[in-house]
Amino acid sequence: MTDRDSYDFIVVSNRLPVDRVVDPDGTARWQRSPGGLVTALEPVMRASDGAWVGWAGKPDLELEPFTADDTYLVPVTLSADEVADYYEGFSNDTLWPLYHDVIAPPSYHREWWDAYVRVNRRFAEQSAAIAAPGATVWVQDYQLQLVPKMLRERRPDLVIGFFNHIPFPPYGIYAQLPWRRQIVEGLLGADVIGFQRVADAGNFTRAVRRLYGANSTKGSEVKVPVAQGEAPRTAIAKAFPISIDAAMFEELARQPAVQERAAEIRRELGNPETIYLGVDRLDYTKGIRHRLKAFGELLRDGRTTAGDSVLVQVASPSRERVEAYMQLRDEIELTVGRINGDYATIGHSAIAYLHHGYPREEMVALYLAADVMLVTALRDGMNLVAKEYVACRHDNDGVLILSEFAGAADELKNALLVNPHDIEGLKDAMTAAAGMPQRERASRMRALRKRVRENDVARWSRGFLDELARAKDAR
Ligand code: G6P
Repeated sequence: MTDRDSYDFIVVSNRLPVDRVVDPDGTARWQRSPGGLVTALEPVMRASDGAWVGWAGKPDLELEPFTADDTYLVPVTLSADEVADYYEGFSNDTLWPLYHDVIAPPSYHREWWDAYVRVNRRFAEQSAAIAAPGATVWVQDYQLQLVPKMLRERRPDLVIGFFNHIPFPPYGIYAQLPWRRQIVEGLLGADVIGFQRVADAGNFTRAVRRLYGANSTKGSEVKVPVAQGEAPRTAIAKAFPISIDAAMFEELARQPAVQERAAEIRRELGNPETIYLGVDRLDYTKGIRHRLKAFGELLRDGRTTAGDSVLVQVASPSRERVEAYMQLRDEIELTVGRINGDYATIGHSAIAYLHHGYPREEMVALYLAADVMLVTALRDGMNLVAKEYVACRHDNDGVLILSEFAGAADELKNALLVNPHDIEGLKDAMTAAAGMPQRERASRMRALRKRVRENDVARWSRGFLDELARAKDAR
């Protein structure tokens, strides 16, 4: 794939799928980034000879488009002020907490909104500039909700999809947003608006009805309000639950080196009976504090001991300049310190807390080593960690404890489903998981694995893109 003038398939997301790393000798290079979105779209991009428009992750980087891993990448420049107002501010201190059930209080600032509009316009302009006539453009996630409408105004010939990777909140919460109408109008610029769960799609169509009247939706169809003289249009709002490349995870988990590493992790932890594992971005939506509280109480009540059990908590650094994230980090680290101080022994820590990101091989080794995987999100669009754990367990062993409030719970019914706010319930589930008979573990894991294998990421993207192709044909 080389640098051309225009592309038939374009992905637009806040971040490009690569990170800029500077080696010790000062040379900069691009490394594929580890995030779920990239993992999800990578196979689609490889198959489609397309372009990707996004931010390179650092302020004030003025870069020419370049090709990496066969994908033409078009960097969008953000100034330091725009990173503060559009990314840290409106995206991650207004929309993120609002869309996750106001677990943290959202801040509303007009200058953040202005930056959001300005940056969304830039993404739309740069995408419009490289789109071939009639091209398909797939816009991703909450940072870019105005892009569909802005693109359509510039390029009515394009077929436009939007996928929201995070929840879409009930109207009672959404209605707080001073710019609620502009965001819905922005999304309605798309032909297909995808959500993780049926409930999210329902929340969105209800928001449309509240704003435009009872007749504005019918099933998954939304009648898009158009200006006088414009042709009437219908958009589709539907659930397409995202997934992972399950075969790739399983293949990694079968590698002898990875299995050896899993055994080594177990040894390094002092061969405990039960390894509990949490893997999250350090984010207040993930319920890390609730999980720590439950584990601390199990130790306090003598229902387990350091030595018998260990909790490995990987909390990868995230959005570190946003106040709520700094506060959460302090709270978590205080709690981990207290629990270890109270219950660890010289030979055995109670909690192994790791504030790092790790390469995929190491994550897979951790999944293989973990007897119990803890996904206790207070709200989560999907949670791909739950699916990764299941995909890796080709030994049909291991127990997944999964929050009802993660999108994955709609599919992974054979997990131990918990309400993470119910600390007693969570403690009971943790104890039950540690003592679950092998036959039950195996039968649950088999059912979970079947589900994840059948609904992998290729199926997700195919489902969405087929719907988009139907929208194109219906024109
Ligand atoms: C979530 C969002 C993504 C985002 C990722 C990492 O999964 O849905 O859009 O890229 O978190 O967050 P960050 O702010 O580092 O991009």
